[in-house]
Amino acid sequence: MTATIFTIVSGKGGAGTSMAAINLGAALAGFAKKTLLIDVDIGMPTIGLMLGLETSKASIHEVLAGSAELKEAIYDGPNNMHILPGSISLQGFVNANMDIIGDILESVKEKYDYIILDSPTGISKNSLLAISLADEIIQVVNPDILSLAGAMKIKVVSDNMGKQFRGVLLNRTEVTQNELSAERVETTLGLKILATMNEEKNVKNSLAFKAPVVIKYPASQVSGNFNRLAAEIAGIKVPEEEMVIKAPEKKKKARKFSLAKNRN
Ligand SMILES: Nc1ncnc2c1ncn2[C@@H]1O[C@H](COP(=O)(O)OP(=O)(O)OP(=O)(O)O)[C@@H](O)[C@H]1O
Ligand SMILES: [Mg+2]
Repeated sequence: MTATIFTIVSGKGGAGTSMAAINLGAALAGFAKKTLLIDVDIGMPTIGLMLGLETSKASIHEVLAGSAELKEAIYDGPNNMHILPGSISLQGFVNANMDIIGDILESVKEKYDYIILDSPTGISKNSLLAISLADEIIQVVNPDILSLAGAMKIKVVSDNMGKQFRGVLLNRTEVTQNELSAERVETTLGLKILATMNEEKNVKNSLAFKAPVVIKYPASQVSGNFNRLAAEIAGIKVPEEEMVIKAPEKKKKARKFSLAKNRN
């Protein structure tokens, strides 16, 4: 077994890259695929915070600094996904040597079906490194011109490196009326839209529970999309109706009955 490495990246901050990395990883692991999620956003790591591993002693930062063994910094996560989180300490950032990240990947590649890299946003030394390590790139794009402009830059630098794209996750849609359409994003970037995901309360709610959406709210639109994408990547055939799970209809509010007795 040799892992396929997916780098999840976006041109603009807050597009949903880390959210996508966590949920794609958890969905792949849910199909019994050995999956390792790595936070390579060394400057602003969030995977640990998002999955409740922020107080862990060993993280990718200590591994990159040579002060912890790799196996000490890999944790069991949802669906038995393995997680190599980052440290929130500033000193960790100062001590980390990203030059050895390629060697770290080489040393674990044989143990996994998939390795998901949560890349820093935009174009920087570390995001270019994360892109260079990818077998396939997934871009997370929001339906606005700023996000699309960033995405175009990521596309150009990745193409220049000879990298392959799996496609685009169009995320945080249906917020305003003047959003860019999926067709516009697809034709401008020349990349396939893998899924379109609405802005959903469930995403923020799952953050509060430090759990992936696919675990906490499996019936949500976002979860359905990640499960479908994971099945496609893993080559698993699942009937469409079992994948796109509609959000449950809102229950009507129960009327309140007053139990207070009339008093004279
Ligand atoms: N579809 C969505 N619906 C609602 N909230 C979302 C959605 N996608 C992402 N978010 C929220 O947006 C915020 C930013 O998401 P996330 O941290 O995944 O973005 P990012 O691209 O990794 O950001 P950064 O540039 O800081 O690395 C988070 O609070 C996340 O919960
Ligand atoms: Mg992030």
